[in-house]
Amino acid sequence: MVKVLFVCLGNICRSPTAEGVFKNLVQQAKLGDRIQVDSAGTHAYHVGEAPDARAQEAARNRGIELGKLKGRQAIAEDMTEFDYVLAMDHENVENLYRICPEGYESRINLFLSYANNLEIEEVPDPYFGGGSGFDQVLDMIEEASIGLLNEIRRENNIK
Ligand code: 4NP
Repeated sequence: MVKVLFVCLGNICRSPTAEGVFKNLVQQAKLGDRIQVDSAGTHAYHVGEAPDARAQEAARNRGIELGKLKGRQAIAEDMTEFDYVLAMDHENVENLYRICPEGYESRINLFLSYANNLEIEEVPDPYFGGGSGFDQVLDMIEEASIGLLNEIRRENNIK
């Protein structure tokens, strides 16, 4: 099993959106029995909460349901458990490095490094902005998800 963890700050906007989009892509590719997907936040502000209503609505408009997800905080064991730990921004990367067991740092990367057609490195935090921010976040996440699935297939020899 290849295990993928998406990480943002609160685990209510960006990383649950990435979890939903990427799970959907994995299911479409009929790889649900090969690739496991989860998400977490670097902070505990929203532990146990469902994703932000705006994130849920934006995802639902693209046929993706996030309502059953629940916020949790990232822990040190996530870096030993998950093969790919994908952060939304540089601050998330720094916070993950701080709790990462020695030797597992290379599992932590920026999610958008897998996006082939994007110039930017970070998924911007839409929490304090308007509704259109959530659509822009979805566009970036969809693009990076395609690149990520291709790379996972290549690195793990999944046909
Ligand atoms: P996320 O967005 O990291 O994409 O889930 C945020 C959610 C909550 C907060 C900040 C960002 N907050 O400060 O509570």
